[in-house]
Amino acid sequence: MKTILHVDCSPRGHAAESYQLSQKIIGFLLQKEPAASVVDRVIGGRAIPHIDGSYATALGATQKSSAEICPAGSMSRSEELIQELERSDFVVIGTPMHNFTVPSALKAWIDHIVRVRRTFNTTPEGYAGTLRDRPVFVAVSSGGRFSGERARQPDFLTPYLKAILGTIGLHDLTFFSVQGTALGPDAVAEARTKADHALQAYFSSFRPQSRSAEQVCL
Ligand SMILES: Cc1cc2nc3c(=O)[nH]c(=O)nc-3n(C[C@H](O)[C@H](O)[C@H](O)COP(=O)(O)O)c2cc1C
Repeated sequence: MKTILHVDCSPRGHAAESYQLSQKIIGFLLQKEPAASVVDRVIGGRAIPHIDGSYATALGATQKSSAEICPAGSMSRSEELIQELERSDFVVIGTPMHNFTVPSALKAWIDHIVRVRRTFNTTPEGYAGTLRDRPVFVAVSSGGRFSGERARQPDFLTPYLKAILGTIGLHDLTFFSVQGTALGPDAVAEARTKADHALQAYFSSFRPQSRSAEQVCL
């Protein structure tokens, strides 16, 4: 049975625009994989703490430390979150844009799952991810617009997620978005309709088995 890991990053819970958009993505995936189970990993609203000192010390060491051999605190939470990610066949990340990039809750999750000697290794050629690649869908919500001709702000969210998830071996990223939630009801309605069309177009030809590389449907 396939597993969809839903990483829910907004502090606004089920009311969040990114949550609603990620639920739509999950709905399309379930149409393709009706027997799939959904694992909800809520990380918004301080659901997972930041990393602790022994984790930071272990990751800064040149070889395996006792914290990695006898995990406690953040190291054991990291292991739990990595194994949850490894078990998934699809990942759906629902996230707001905060200050041009990912919210701190998503960064806290990333600090746990991107771990040297575990999800990536350093090689003379650079970083080498250890995770099997799989489709990752990112549902982004933003108060203003960050892509297209009407964008008035920089976007450090999408390039950052591509770079950091690519580091651990996840290259198959597809982004959807509802942009302009602070621009009034008409703008929100327009953005939702645009997202719905992008979802329809994408999933009408989506074949879980024959995947191409990263796509952007912003
Ligand atoms: C701390 C904070 C920082 C924000 N920074 C940005 C930003 O840089 N760009 C933007 O377009 N919207 C920004 N917003 C607005 C949110 O992205 C917007 O309200 C979004 O729709 C929230 O998504 P959610 O409902 O999924 O939480 C910010 C909101 C907060 C709370």
